[in-house]
Amino acid sequence: MGQKPFNDTFLKACRKEEVPYTPVWYMRQAGRYQPEYREIRKKYSFFEINENPEVCAEVTRLPVEQLGVDAAILFADIMTPLIPIGVDVDIVPSKGPVISNPIRTIDDVQRLKAIAPGTDLPFIGDTIKLLREQLSVPLIGFAGAPFTLSSYLIEGGPSKDYHKTKGFMYAHPNEWQALMDKLAEVTTAYLLYQIESGAQAVQVFDSWIGSVGADDYEKYIAPTMAKIFTELKKTGVPTIYFGSGTAHLLKIWNQLPVDVLSVDWRIDLKDVRALGINKALQGNLDPSTLLAPWDLLKEKAKNILDQGNEAPGYIFNLGHGVFPEASVSQLQQLTSFIHEYTKK
Ligand code: CP3
Repeated sequence: MGQKPFNDTFLKACRKEEVPYTPVWYMRQAGRYQPEYREIRKKYSFFEINENPEVCAEVTRLPVEQLGVDAAILFADIMTPLIPIGVDVDIVPSKGPVISNPIRTIDDVQRLKAIAPGTDLPFIGDTIKLLREQLSVPLIGFAGAPFTLSSYLIEGGPSKDYHKTKGFMYAHPNEWQALMDKLAEVTTAYLLYQIESGAQAVQVFDSWIGSVGADDYEKYIAPTMAKIFTELKKTGVPTIYFGSGTAHLLKIWNQLPVDVLSVDWRIDLKDVRALGINKALQGNLDPSTLLAPWDLLKEKAKNILDQGNEAPGYIFNLGHGVFPEASVSQLQQLTSFIHEYTKK
């Protein structure tokens, strides 16, 4: 631990600098597909892991050591910073976050408290400091974006269509803006705290933003995201913006003060660049292909690498998270292949 020379390939790719090979990490790379994680989960609940720096650091390091990826991502959930602001959230197995006090009115919005990350979530800073001593790859901090957070807050749990969320947005634009402002403050303060504690890059997860049309994104979401990334940019730490099903939003995203766009498999990377996107890119292997025979998986990865590497600033990742049925050995083989195939 810590003896290995520091591998900054991922940070270089975020900045569109020359790299010796294509860096790779996987969204949700720590989780139930790992037998070691499942063992730890027998002893602790999700939030018990999150709140115990020793265990949380161990879970964060696990995929780095097991898969040989070029970055670690802090183990937490997008719901973690919502607990201290007064959201009663439970992570229900095979379902996701469920909220017992969903937002329905402006009173519910106003009831949400401001966040003081250092006192509300000291274990996050402690985990990051510990990891910086232990890791020889960069540590990515993360948070949820206001729209995606609000979708859980308003729906009360996972949703397929986000009707309640978007209904609230259309019917109560002032209350909606108040909610976006409040969540933007949470996301910004929480990420700045992670950066002060030692996070070397940050990713904002806007997983469900693809459900919003481009005109509505411009009107109801873009100003909030511009505010968040403007604040983060002042730190000089690379920023990444992820969403799924976002082909129609990428031109707008290209105008935001963010460094890397993380895209899913519904659009080819060559078509992303053809839109005039000039930021660094991350993605975009369909996670389902982890269940494909190796030869097919390899062909898919090769095709993505060839497209991604047509311009500087490319990081290999999945188009969405690793899932419980994925196999460790398939991810190990994929990681080695990416490194070998792209080595200069
Ligand atoms: O990437 C990593 O390894 C870091 C850990 C991480 C978790 N959640 C751990 C987790 C990250 C980055 C997240 C982000 C997250 N959480 C997102 C954005 C990324 C995405 O997948 O879109 C979202 C939408 C959530 C909300 C959430 N939390 C979901 C959908 C789930 C899974 C529900 C299920 O059981 O399938 C969770 C729970 C969760 N978060 C687990 C883990 C490892 C599994 C719960 C467990 O261990 O019991």
